[in-house]
Amino acid sequence: MSEKETRKRVLSGNRPTGPCHLGHLFGVLNFWRELQDKYDCFYFIADYHALTTHYDRVDKIQENVREATLDFLAAGLTPEKSTLFLQSDIPEVAEFTLLLSMITPMGLLERNPTYKARLEELGIEHPNLGLFQYPVIQTVDIVIYKADYVPVGQDQLPHVWISADIAKTFRFKFGEIFPIPKELVGDFPNVPGIDNRKMSKSYNNGIFIKDDEKTTLEKVKMFYTDPTKIRKDDLGHPDECPVFYFHTITSAVDILKAIHEECATGKRGCVACKMQMAENLNAMLRPVRERRKMFADNPGEVEKILIEGGCRARAEAQDTVRKVRKAMGLLEQSRL
Ligand code: TRP
Repeated sequence: MSEKETRKRVLSGNRPTGPCHLGHLFGVLNFWRELQDKYDCFYFIADYHALTTHYDRVDKIQENVREATLDFLAAGLTPEKSTLFLQSDIPEVAEFTLLLSMITPMGLLERNPTYKARLEELGIEHPNLGLFQYPVIQTVDIVIYKADYVPVGQDQLPHVWISADIAKTFRFKFGEIFPIPKELVGDFPNVPGIDNRKMSKSYNNGIFIKDDEKTTLEKVKMFYTDPTKIRKDDLGHPDECPVFYFHTITSAVDILKAIHEECATGKRGCVACKMQMAENLNAMLRPVRERRKMFADNPGEVEKILIEGGCRARAEAQDTVRKVRKAMGLLEQSRL
């Protein structure tokens, strides 16, 4: 067996709801990129999941899938190391979701904290079955490819635990077909946005991978700064400042120490501090953005990556679903 085949498998996905911001990049995508060197990684665009809440905005889905794929590739996820694919290219996911729904207790889904939060956040009074069974589809995403680990942010942890629960129930009833998945939590930072709240699409406070350098600079200029530091010689509080936060990501350690000291002792003004940060940030994002542009100019290449990844993923999914159908008393495969 080759080394790759004996490596543990990692799987994760993103819902395509628009272009990725730096919270995604520094929080999630960079972690996924690092995992590629250690694990057999499967990363996908969760377009079925996008429909759980965006079924009334379907005209945007294809564009969002394209954007999300470009962001994956820009961040350094690569078909040379990982299996990259589109969730709905694997129809076995839908079939397995139906089968798994037979053994999933409603109560488990009713208790899902993410579900309750979603209903409140989006003001949904009459939830659809799709959103309710979100964790069932997500469980299938994981176990259908026999993944061992699922790298996710804090907000997704309950989903992975529910998945482990459902996977255990399946194993107890029907035997061992796939591993019980475990979460992998990186040190996903809470990246602040322009207004110093968490960077998030719904707050409209993000810098995007796809932004150009000028837009990035303009956004950095708009960053929230310490309201008690009005003049350069006012003492700052760098540890609570989002501009300083970005310096911690983009500046070398010794320079960072000097910035901290200058700010706290009133020797550094916010305008100059922002300019320096914007320059560092743009320099750091340059290769990422160049990769993005390179792929954006080659849509055929991107398509090929998803198709080849999808073929690999589908073979794995078909193998699992055959075993599942058999274990659940059905014919292994449709006869038609
Ligand atoms: N729920 C995840 C999110 O919103 C996306 C997702 C779908 C996922 N299926 C998954 C993540 C399976 C990990 C594993 O970000």
